[in-house]
Amino acid sequence: MNDSSTRSWDAAADDWVAHADTSDYQHLFLQPRMLALAGDVTGRRVLDLGCGEGAYSRELVRCGARVTGIDGSERLVDIARVRASTSGVAIDHRCLNASALDSLADASFDLIVASMIFMNVEDYPGAIREAHRVLAPGGALCMSLTHPCFSAPVSDWVRGKGRVPRHFAVDRYFERIAWDDRIAPTFRTPTLRRHRPLEDYLSGALQAGFVLQDFQEPMATDADLQASARFEPMTRIPYFLFMRWEKTLG
Ligand SMILES: C[S@@+](CC[C@H](N)C(=O)[O-])C[C@H]1O[C@@H](n2cnc3c(N)ncnc32)[C@H](O)[C@@H]1O
Repeated sequence: MNDSSTRSWDAAADDWVAHADTSDYQHLFLQPRMLALAGDVTGRRVLDLGCGEGAYSRELVRCGARVTGIDGSERLVDIARVRASTSGVAIDHRCLNASALDSLADASFDLIVASMIFMNVEDYPGAIREAHRVLAPGGALCMSLTHPCFSAPVSDWVRGKGRVPRHFAVDRYFERIAWDDRIAPTFRTPTLRRHRPLEDYLSGALQAGFVLQDFQEPMATDADLQASARFEPMTRIPYFLFMRWEKTLG
């Protein structure tokens, strides 16, 4: 099933892969934190929701998980398949919309890793309900997001002399809105950027039946700054939000 989110990401797929392959945010900040939040995955049935070109899926297999990777972009799923095969890792890849996981059975996963997907999906309530349906009781959903408090339609650093960042300004926070934006200047095609207030992410997951287990707004540490000086703004505000939710047994 195609919608505005899957069409937009399919159009920008090759630019995303080139970006993801070289992104310090991806490799040095986001991925290690998500894998830590996921914990021990040995022998676990893991769904990589919005798997993109598949870096998380391949790493999860290396950590001992049995992985299914789904994405709404045909092009990204093709690239993820080729990369898994080249790396010699077995992953079940499917092109599916996160809000219609029709070919995935109820209660068929122990863990869902949803890295940087939910702020992109057109139908977040549908996607979070589907995540709950395919998780086994006792299973966990680990998600990362662009932090919704700092991703409103008006949200940017206000700079002083010499473009030194003075403070971060946010406006139009309550708007639920999507607009075309380039992730980086290297992108030939814009992707559909979307904003929802934090309340929508929390209430959607609670209404689906999830219980919140962990909530992290990662601040860049000294070690992060050694790894990349570009992380400096994250010593002042969180660019990302990580949450771990549980589907309870009862
Ligand atoms: C920012 S990328 C993240 C990719 C990967 N999880 C990672 O962290 O590297 C967002 C991904 O979500 C996928 N996506 C967006 N909307 C989707 C939807 N409705 N259903 C499935 N995948 C979707 C995109 O195709 C893209 O691969």
